Amino acid sequence: MEKSNAAPNVLVIHGPNLNMLGQREPEIYGHQSLEKINARLTAQGAKLQLRVETFQSNHEGEIVEQIQQAAVKYAGLLINPAAYTHTSIAIRDALALLDMPVIEIHLSNIYKREPFRHKSLICDVVTAQVSGFGAWGYTLALEGLEKLLP
Ligand code: DQA
Repeated sequence: MEKSNAAPNVLVIHGPNLNMLGQREPEIYGHQSLEKINARLTAQGAKLQLRVETFQSNHEGEIVEQIQQAAVKYAGLLINPAAYTHTSIAIRDALALLDMPVIEIHLSNIYKREPFRHKSLICDVVTAQVSGFGAWGYTLALEGLEKLLP
């Protein structure tokens, strides 16, 4: 499929407690701060000719609202819903409305951790999942998302 000329907008949503990356359980989530991850994504996006915007919230409703707005503003979405992955039907339902490539991402391998993390409520409404690569996973996920854009 031909790519269009305008640089597509891509949204990256980070869920609760991801603002604490770097300080938060570094043995699980690594030492990189969210600011660093976002800066790397923005730079990578520029190389891929994507405009990357990032959003973090600790509030479920705010994340739902961002997903709803994504439908009109963005060509693709990368989302780490963090703990809401395992609990939020509201976020799942909002994602199910989107008609665009959506990549679910987790820093840790959620399937190697506590049983309550093994279930993702969004895995069957997203396009693909990246789990267990640490901060590097965001780079992989953006690269994969770019390939899926119309
Ligand atoms: C996480 C995994 C979740 O289980 C956890 O609640 C998080 C982060 C990850 O990126 O590995 O906050 O989504």
